[in-house]
Order: sequence, then structure tokens, then C-alpha cells
Amino acid sequence: MAADFAANYRVNLRNRALVACGGARRLRLPINNERAASAPLPFGRDPVRTQVGIVGAGPAGLLLSHLLHLEGIESVVLENRSRAAVEATLRAGVLEQGTVDLLKATGVGERMQREGAVHHGIELRFAGRGHRIDLSGLTGGKAITVYAQHEVLKDLIAARSAAGGTILFEASDARLCDLDQKTPSIRFDHDGGSRELACDFVAGCDGFHGVCRPSMPESARTEYTRAYPFGWFGILTQAPPSSPELIYTHHPRGFALVSTRSPDIQRLYFQCDPHDDVDNWPAERIWEEFRVRLATLDGWAPCEGPVLQKNIVAMRSFVCEPMQCGRLFLAGDAAHIVPPTGAKGLNLAVADVWLLSRALVAFYRDGRSDLLEHYSETALTRVWRAEHFSWWMTSMLHRFPGNDPFQVRLQLAELGYVTSSLPKATTLAENYVGLPFA
Ligand code: FAD
Ligand code: DHB
Repeated sequence: MAADFAANYRVNLRNRALVACGGARRLRLPINNERAASAPLPFGRDPVRTQVGIVGAGPAGLLLSHLLHLEGIESVVLENRSRAAVEATLRAGVLEQGTVDLLKATGVGERMQREGAVHHGIELRFAGRGHRIDLSGLTGGKAITVYAQHEVLKDLIAARSAAGGTILFEASDARLCDLDQKTPSIRFDHDGGSRELACDFVAGCDGFHGVCRPSMPESARTEYTRAYPFGWFGILTQAPPSSPELIYTHHPRGFALVSTRSPDIQRLYFQCDPHDDVDNWPAERIWEEFRVRLATLDGWAPCEGPVLQKNIVAMRSFVCEPMQCGRLFLAGDAAHIVPPTGAKGLNLAVADVWLLSRALVAFYRDGRSDLLEHYSETALTRVWRAEHFSWWMTSMLHRFPGNDPFQVRLQLAELGYVTSSLPKATTLAENYVGLPFA
């Protein structure tokens, strides 16, 4: 797969001068690293023009901008938070094989290869015993890489910066205009003034709470949703790894997950009340909960250390259909959410923008609009598969309030089957390491 990506990414310099862009000024600005340090922006009263206006500098927006740049397509990324906040937000940690291959093939995988940890298996732990799922053995050698999402973002921001790309941080109040016209635009506030960015297409990469999805008329979208009656309590701790591979644990008190970040920083989660307050959980209480839930019959215990950070995230499944409307294309969490149990959210965002970038390249290079027209339909096939996998992992591993003993027995039967049947284990493994992008 790496070879495929590499072949696709031999940048053809002849294609760098693509479509002429109207009469408005084209944008060639450096990234404004810090508001105070940034040079005045050449946004005047006239709209500045680019080819693809991207809202959101998360994994979806930044990677899309990078992929388009490699194909000679210009974009501007508008982000409402500061660069420091974007680079400090703790979220995902598990990268699928396809995500890793893509980052490597497009020149942003160097630090990930150096600092990330390649894992060839995971453990499912239930009824006090661990059972290894041999991810690589079951998928012809594929693996996952544990490398924090904000480190991926730092690498992408550095790459866009080195290439002279434009990311406007602290760009607030974005409003999308004329999405049904050939020249949509994004109005926003930046550096104390009102600005306008005219473009050919808008990529809505602004996450679940963004403005892009609500810009689609309600009559033009259908939303499918499921809220879960629990959240995840996540910690970062200064301690050595408790285990060489991730541990997903089913326990009568609720789910627990052991992950990692580096040889001396670990990431762990346990299922909690989504309305709980982190202040109710001093370190000793947190470790007691982990000790109980992760215990095995042969006396396994996690490596404990000071708790450096703690947070609670709510869990939901959500899909918006379609993922496009006129000249607006949604990608990543703006279009869909999965509960984190399958480690799919960031990876789905990557798969979406890979697809969208191919469709935009076909449009600009070959004058073909069919891939753009079918973007949503193509993306949603993979999205719904990941939705199912994430729901299934969540249902199998969590304690549901009101669960009667019958339902618990069903969960244990499912876990027993997954860890003893080759086809069932293969299903878990191939979904976990990631299905093909398209
Ligand atoms: P986001 O990361 O949400 O980025 C959207 C960006 O848009 C943000 O920077 C936001 O500030 C900006 N924005 C929002 N509104 C506006 C606006 N109006 N104007 C301008 N900018 C705007 N996924 C995995 O694949 N593997 C994992 O292991 C994993 N673990 C997770 C663990 C936890 C605890 C959580 C919470 C999530 C996890 N995920 C995981 C999910 C993953 O983090 C998300 O799916 C991913 O961040 C989605 O990327 P995105 O670019 O679509 O959206
Ligand atoms: C991590 C997050 C996940 O959602 C998951 O399923 C596995 C690991 C992590 O943050 O390391």
C-alpha cells in the first residue's frame, strides 16, 4: 500500500499551474504562527481567492491542505483556535496502517516513524484473563502505530509552514456563502477585521461542533445519531508502560483501556459517568479504579505514576448524509462521530480527505467532476463500516446501566467467540488495522 501512495504522490511539476482563478488576488502567505508575530494579512475589502477554502485545522483540514499542495492545488485553512491550543489538545493515539502509509508517502511521517510505537497485536481482557489478538498475523502483516494526534498535527503544520502554506489561526465567526454558486466564499473575522475568502470549493473540516454542517439546509441532510450513557475518563501519567500492547478490558465495574505515548508517559482510560467531574477523582481514587478493573487472576497490576492530566469525554455515534451540498464537502468529525473504542475517528478523517483530495485532483487536472459528485456516496460506505465496528466494540466491552446478568453473559459469549474463532478474530483485526481507503 505504501508503494501505491508513493506512486500517487510523485508530484508532477507540470501540473502545478492549474486552474486560473478569477480576478481576485491569489493568496501566498506564510502561516501566522502567533497572532502577535504575524505579518499584516493582505485581506482588504476585496475577497482574497484560493482554490479550496478549508474550515478547521484538525487532522482532516491540515492533511487535506497538505495533499492538495502536493498536487499543485492551493488552499487556505481557517482555524478559530490558536496554534498553541491546536498543538496541545490531547485526543487520539492509534493510527491505522493506511494512515501511517499515507503520512510516510507524503513526507510527513519521519517523526512518527522515529517516535511512534508499532504494535502488532492488542489484548482483550475479560473475566480476569488476557487474550491476544494477533493483528499482524491475521491481516497479512498490517499493524497500528501509537502516535498522538497532536503530534501528527504539529508535523502537518510544520510541513505546511515549510511549503509556504496558509493557515490562519484565531479566524473567528466563519460564515459560508453562496455554496450553490460556482464561486462560494467564506466570511470571517481575523486580526480585528472582517475578511472574505473566495474559492472554488469549501471543505468543512471543522469537527462535530463546527459551522459547516449546519450551513447545509436542514432539508438537504439526514442525521443519524446514538448517544451512549457513559463517557471515558482519560489520564496521562508519568510511568513506564504497563504492557507492550494496548489492553481493552471488560469488567463488571466498566470498561478500561491501557494505551501508551512514550517510554515514560502512558495514556489510560476508564468508563465513567459522562456528567462526572474530574475533580471528584484524586490520583489515588483513579489508580484504585484501574487496579480493580484491570486485575487478572494471576495478579497483574498497572505501573502507576503521577497523574499529569485528566479529562472526560462523552461518547456518541453520528452520521450526516449526504456529506456534501453544492460546493461544500464535509470531512472527518464534521460529518460523522464514532465512540473511541474502535480508535477510528482520526483514521476516518484521514480516509475522507484522501478521497476528497483525489476527487479534487480529478476535477482540476482532468476536468472530471464525477468523483466529486460521488464523494459522499463513496465515503459513506467506509464510514458506516467504521460506525458499525465502533458500535460493536463499544457494545461488547462497556457496562450499560441497567444491564441484566443475561446481557453481561451475552457480552462474555461474544468476547469468548472473538478470542477463539479465527474468522471472528480476523474480522476484529482487519477492521482495527483499517480497511482500504476506497
Ligand atoms: P477535529 O479534530 O475536531 O478538528 C476540527 C478543527 O476545526 C478544530 O481544530 C476546531 O478548533 C476547528 N473549528 C471548529 N469550528 C470552527 C469554526 N467555526 N471555524 C474555524 N475552525 C473551527 N480517533 C482515532 O482514529 N484513533 C484514536 O485512538 C482515537 N482516540 C480518541 C480518544 C478520545 C478521548 C477522543 C475524544 C477522540 C479520539 N479519536 C480517535 C477521535 C479523533 O480525535 C477525531 O475523530 C479527530 O480529531 C477528527 O478530526 P477532524 O479534523 O475531523 O476534527
Ligand atoms: C487510544 C484511544 C482510543 O480511542 C483507543 O481505542 C485506543 C487508544 C489512545 O489515546 O491511545
